[in-house]
Amino acid sequence: MNRISEDIIEKIRGTIDIVDVVSEYVQLKKQGRNYFGLCPFHGEKSPSFSVSPEKQIYHCFGCGAGGNVFSFLMEIEGFSFLEAVQSAAKRTNIDIPEIETITEKTQTSTIAEKMVEAHELLKKFYHHLLVNTKEGSKPLQYLNNRGFTKETIENFTIGYAPSSKDFAIKFLHKRGFSYELLEQAGIAIKSQEGTFYDRFRNRIMFPIWDLQGNVIAFSGRIIEDGEPKYLNSPETTIFQKSKVLYGFHLARSHIRKKQHAILLEGFLDTIALHRAGISNAIATMGTALTDEQIRIIRRNVDQVIICYDSDKAGVEAAFRASEMLKDAGCEIKIAIMPDGYDPDDYISKFGETKFRTDVIGASVTLMGFKMQYYRRGKDLKDESDKISYIDNILREVSKLDKPVERDHYLRQLSEEFEISLDALKSQQFQVYKQNKKRDNSPVSRNNIANRPILQKRMLPAFHNAERLLLAHMLRDAEVASKVQNTLNGLFNIEEHSAIAAYLYAFYEEGNPPNVNALLSRIQEQNLQRMISELSMLTLNEEISELELSDYIKQVLNYPKMLKIKEKESERRDAERRNEYVMAAQIEMEIIKMRKELK
Ligand code: GTP
Ligand code: MN
Repeated sequence: MNRISEDIIEKIRGTIDIVDVVSEYVQLKKQGRNYFGLCPFHGEKSPSFSVSPEKQIYHCFGCGAGGNVFSFLMEIEGFSFLEAVQSAAKRTNIDIPEIETITEKTQTSTIAEKMVEAHELLKKFYHHLLVNTKEGSKPLQYLNNRGFTKETIENFTIGYAPSSKDFAIKFLHKRGFSYELLEQAGIAIKSQEGTFYDRFRNRIMFPIWDLQGNVIAFSGRIIEDGEPKYLNSPETTIFQKSKVLYGFHLARSHIRKKQHAILLEGFLDTIALHRAGISNAIATMGTALTDEQIRIIRRNVDQVIICYDSDKAGVEAAFRASEMLKDAGCEIKIAIMPDGYDPDDYISKFGETKFRTDVIGASVTLMGFKMQYYRRGKDLKDESDKISYIDNILREVSKLDKPVERDHYLRQLSEEFEISLDALKSQQFQVYKQNKKRDNSPVSRNNIANRPILQKRMLPAFHNAERLLLAHMLRDAEVASKVQNTLNGLFNIEEHSAIAAYLYAFYEEGNPPNVNALLSRIQEQNLQRMISELSMLTLNEEISELELSDYIKQVLNYPKMLKIKEKESERRDAERRNEYVMAAQIEMEIIKMRKELK
């Protein structure tokens, strides 16, 4: 199964830096010896995901994920071990000579891979039709009129689907794709008579990518006007709208560099921003922001500028998106355009520079945006509108954690409406108390999202002792050898015995302590996770003889204590049956066993 030699795997493992690889997915900050970030494997607001550059492993204190660079790639990309090694090799310039592993993979490639392949081919085909053929001239003209440059059309591989009922599927069928697969991929549609035809006809085609840059779907825009304006691929195994952020594969590095992302509503807006040299722009696929998308954003950046259409629907959507992003721990700003514009329109009309300075540059804080939001459609000279506006703002102010911020906005309100600051403060405190009561209601306490992921565990003494022994054994071969001579495999927890066995073998081959290397030879994910966690424990560097023998004793005593407990219950049974001689005999045994414990 494993066609890549151990030597090469070792070489890759020794060359690649896990911090670099993880950084492609998670924003890491150095803290002491380790790096910390938000765990990509579960939703969280404060970072419990840690990476050790010395040990070359990662561990999440929240969900328990852990391992070395290969485990990370397997877990985050869904790779097999072999694929993870190949992907790591690409990042290191180390050649993998056994190239047959790759050809072998294509032969048995999965349906999902075939679907992507079909999309990639079709993307090139549509693009060719747009830029090189007579049929493409009208749509090309339309794009040019809208300000699309040749470069943009290339970068986003925009294409054209001709007005034919089966051009695309014939093209792909000739290249070995079955009609059934094309239907599954959303490229073909099956008629009631059972014949297949093209989904997209006479449309400008925009490829849609997954986070890694594979084409997984299309959106086709009608040329000029008509309904529907955009036709999207249906949801398939490779395309789920809720998980797509348009332009992300192009934007990721820019988002990291600039330390903020610009979130848009339409993919045409994304293209317009990239065209204007603003490359940290991404968009949802015309649907409300999902938790999945928020997680992707959150993994990469703290700050988000939301720039949605300025119509009513856009403002409402921006409001909801900002609340969700804020709950996920993002810092939000909102870029506002004059009524009736979307970012693409704005740039076409006023130019890139003005968009940078007057829209992005003038983006307001969330509170500033809310103040504008609650003003919409209200006449603040009207008494009841004014009171309802103030109520809304007090509610928002109550949600702010920082007293300085609360004070700032209360003062602003006080000045604008000439209300005494004291009155506003006391009213705001009322609102705060009411909200708090509501938040403590049983309904919101039962909300799963509010619960900590893992309760801090209180482990029994023997369990703790086993963990500490292993933690020291992982760092010190001599400790491992002492434990092997006294305890050997007699850990009470099965996984602990397994880890010990791997460690004994590892040291017997003469290897120095190295978790990263050890992890490479272990397949079981649960063991990998435990080992990573134990390696990340903060320990006193040296373990004294006394500590060591104390831990070992606790481990050995545990099964004996279980026996004693059994005996005690036997004794109680005997007493209940009035068999006092028997009870006394059992008691003698118990005393003897207790002595052995010491
Ligand atoms: P243009 O009108 O060409 O400038 O596009 P736009 O990006 O301004 O479109 P709009 O603001 O109307 O829509 C924003 C997003 O909603 C688009 O990027 C699409 O993802 C989605 N959308 C808009 N119209 C349709 C439609 O008719 N069908 C589907 N499925 N999605 C649409
Ligand atoms: Mn538009």
